[in-house]
Amino acid sequence: MQRIRSPESLTENARWWRAGARFTRATGAAVAIGVMAGLMMSGHGALALDRTRTTYLEKCGGCHGIEGQSGQTYIPTLRDRIGTLSCTPEGRAYLLTVPGVSMSLIRDDALMAQVMNFVLFDLGGHSTPPGTTPFTAEEVHAQRGHPLSTTDLLAVRAQVWARAIACSTNRR
Ligand code: HEC
Repeated sequence: MQRIRSPESLTENARWWRAGARFTRATGAAVAIGVMAGLMMSGHGALALDRTRTTYLEKCGGCHGIEGQSGQTYIPTLRDRIGTLSCTPEGRAYLLTVPGVSMSLIRDDALMAQVMNFVLFDLGGHSTPPGTTPFTAEEVHAQRGHPLSTTDLLAVRAQVWARAIACSTNRR
């Protein structure tokens, strides 16, 4: 018997296929950037692309953009926005449990903490509330034990964002 798939599951698949294609193209670019940076560093030590940034470029930048700006796509822009989520404890937890992070190929918790601190404090810019504490390997490890599991990620995301925006508006 033929299995009938729901329209939702088809849309979901198409979403990830497009992301995959985009990711593959952009990863090629990220690797090229890494090679260029390596060449430049071996010459004059001028451009220091550290391990954290290189990891972000390779494992996240393909989707979220090398500067955290993903443009007109359904993939969220991180630059100057993402820090707002850290205003609430659930938003902070969401940052580590969202599939792109909890299921990332970056399996080293300490490295993931560094990448997420780059996302929060560098890309997040002014959106990150003053006094926000950096992520630690322990926090990453603990949250990865509870990855987001929902059939409606977009609805969960909208609610988490709404409460984080309310939180940061009240703080001002
Ligand atoms: C295949 C594309 C893809 C990759 C790779 C990816 N993400 Fe994402 N990311 C998404 C999408 C799409 C969302 C929106 C939520 C969802 O549908 O999962 C998202 C959501 C997020 C969010 C929450 C933003 C919000 O507004 O909801 C953060 C933070 C994040 N990603 C960080 C990362 C980091 C850090 C990496 C690398 C370790 C990464 N992502 C890798 C596609 C990706």
